[in-house]
Formats: sequence, structure tokens, C-alpha cells
Amino acid sequence: MIIRTESKSDYNQVFKVNYEAFRNREDEPKLVEKIRNSEKFIPELSIVAEENNQILGHILLSKADVIEEDINHEVIVLAPIAVKPEFQNKGIGSLLIQEGLKRCKNLGYGLVLLIGHPTYYPKFGFKPARQYGLELKQFNVTDEVFMVCEVIKGELDRIKGELRYPETFL
Ligand SMILES: CC(C)(COP(=O)(O)OP(=O)(O)OC[C@H]1O[C@@H](n2cnc3c(N)ncnc32)[C@H](O)[C@@H]1OP(=O)(O)O)[C@@H](O)C(=O)NCCC(=O)NCCS
Repeated sequence: MIIRTESKSDYNQVFKVNYEAFRNREDEPKLVEKIRNSEKFIPELSIVAEENNQILGHILLSKADVIEEDINHEVIVLAPIAVKPEFQNKGIGSLLIQEGLKRCKNLGYGLVLLIGHPTYYPKFGFKPARQYGLELKQFNVTDEVFMVCEVIKGELDRIKGELRYPETFL
């Protein structure tokens, strides 16, 4: 299994992976395209899992803001992540998340936030975010699904406020 940065020649296969993983709906593959075309896109944070020249999984992390009065903290949001249905539950999603978090840290982004399944993400270090003074108002979600992972120590103390997903997500 090769975990590497997505390249332009992967775009078609990445579309298919997202399309199939999200039950043949186009919303998520189209979201990927919109994020790629936005100023929040970081090419190194669009990562694929490849085996035998076939893309089996994809994760996208991109920039967002946490607003604290007049301070604007730059953070990362994780979405979407997708693994081809016939290759799920083999650890590919975990490899993609671990690589994504490592890259965020290396790029100097201290917090990664997401809305996701509360049983899947905690093993990677994600915790409910609101208890740390982080808020989300754009989406009406419960405390347990709005999660944060502190990839650089001390960042949860430093960054408080409301997470704002870019227009692309709304
Ligand atoms: C979520 C997803 C990316 C995980 O990838 P994966 O390669 O199957 O994950 P792994 O093999 O590393 O981990 C499998 C674990 O995830 C759990 N899992 C898989 N899909 C899940 C889901 N939708 N919700 C909660 N848990 C899930 C499995 O039960 C398994 O748990 P275990 O490790 O405790 O046994 C993949 O299942 C997928 O593409 N799902 C459809 C798209 C989706 O829902 N994406 C997430 C929202 S953005």
C-alpha cells in the first residue's frame, strides 16, 4: 500500500472512490473538486492510498478558521475521507488519517477539526471539541460528533472560538 500526495492524474479515480464510498452520491466528490479549486486547498493534504496502480482511498484536509472576537486562527478541517467499499475495514482509512495528521503537524497546523462518527475518530486522538471552548454554529450537530485533534501540543489552550467552515462546505 502506497500512501502519497494526490496528483492531477488521480482526479478521475479519486472522484470514483468518493462517489462509491458515499453510496453513489455526487455531493462528496463534488465537494472535493470545489475545495481543490478554493484558496483553502493545500495540495499536500490531499492524500491517496494506492495499490497496484489503483486508488483505493482518499482523504482531504483543508484550511478553515476559528474566530475569536477579532482574532482569526487558522486550523484544518478533515473532510471528506473515503475508501472504496470493497476495501473498507482493512485499515486504509486509518493509514490515511494518521498520515494526514502527521502532515498537518509538519506544516505547523496545530488543530484538526471535523464532524464525524464518534466511535471512529477517538482512536486517532479526536475528542469532543466544545469542552475546549470551540464552537460550531453553521451546522446543528451534537457535542459528540464535533471533534478536534490537537496535533501540536498547547494549541487547544491557545485556540478558542467558533469554527467557520468555508463557503465551499455550506
Ligand atoms: C469511514 C471510512 C473512510 C473508514 O475507512 P476504512 O478503511 O474502512 O477504516 P479502517 O479499516 O481504518 O477502520 C475500520 C473501522 O472503522 C469503523 N467504521 C467504518 N465505517 C464507519 C462509519 N461510517 N462510522 C463509524 N465507524 C465506521 C469500522 O467498524 C472499523 O472499526 P474497528 O477498527 O473498531 O473495527 C470508510 O468506511 C468509508 O469510506 N466510509 C464511507 C464514507 C464515509 O462515511 N466517510 C466518513 C465521513 S466523511
